[in-house]
Amino acid sequence: MSNTTRRVAIVSAPVPDDLQQAISQHLEIYSVPAGQRIEEAVPEEVRARAIALLCTMRTPVQESLFAALPQLQVVSNFAVGYDNIDVPAATRAGVLVCNTPGVLDAAVADLTIGMALCLGRKLVDNDRFVRSGAWLKGPAPLASDLAGKTFGLLGMGRIGRMVAKRARAFDMNVVYHNRRPDAEAERSGLASYLERDALFSQSDYVSVHIPLGPETTASIGAREFSLMKPTAFFMNTARGAVVDEAALIHALRSGQIAGAGLDVMVKEPLDTASALIDLPNVILQPHVGSATVETRRAMIALAVDNLVNVASGNQPKAMVNESVWPVVAKKAR
Ligand code: GLV
Repeated sequence: MSNTTRRVAIVSAPVPDDLQQAISQHLEIYSVPAGQRIEEAVPEEVRARAIALLCTMRTPVQESLFAALPQLQVVSNFAVGYDNIDVPAATRAGVLVCNTPGVLDAAVADLTIGMALCLGRKLVDNDRFVRSGAWLKGPAPLASDLAGKTFGLLGMGRIGRMVAKRARAFDMNVVYHNRRPDAEAERSGLASYLERDALFSQSDYVSVHIPLGPETTASIGAREFSLMKPTAFFMNTARGAVVDEAALIHALRSGQIAGAGLDVMVKEPLDTASALIDLPNVILQPHVGSATVETRRAMIALAVDNLVNVASGNQPKAMVNESVWPVVAKKAR
């Protein structure tokens, strides 16, 4: 039977039993299937007692949610990205937003390099070549080396740097563009800074590692693809909506660029009617950059830790709108 005075954590993410126990020590758990609107899925009596929400990117967290959860102190997102959350509205409502940075960098970087290998060395094409019997008629077309090629990172945050390290290990020339040049990357010889246009025009691989926000939405489009070499590959493991997908499809169809590796699309899950599905020069992944057993465990552990810290009045490790913490800390006392 639920205790009608106990504070609640609304949980809309897959939390393993041991971590659920960590939450239950502080809060009553109210579970909601991922992707449902909390305002509609949770009864008012529970919403009135909710001080925490643990959710995935599939849960939209808009202004209306803060009105519906008047006691809310923290939204702990089970993701490093937080484009599902209206952070300015959370800040206005005095709600702390937490995320899971750091623990997924290696996994996303591995997938990025995996896609570069698939594109450059034609791994997926060659698999089709063998299965279709084409090999019985003659050898497969030659692929291209990664060594000596220019790998261009758009965005040089934690994940970008991890990708740069891996690309260097493949003897690639690593370049990057970022709002702020990364002095340490330059000093250590990890990567050299290029202006944005030069990054698109000089790279053999362009890999996107920027967050989605008002300034980056559809920020890569026809102009950027027209700058790229016809032999170059485009890769996105960040967010689909940073790309103008129609312009990308045009660039791929017309041979303006050689191919693409996409872990993210504008609309996910990708509809099988999407033009991307029929393009032979695209490798598609179902948004799995962080989807390994180890990484997802580390992410959910950090998301739960953030939530439990707020519930017990301690500063969480990963805050998006840190300025709200003093307000939340006061409420928690
Ligand atoms: C995955 O896309 C994440 O933001 O964690």
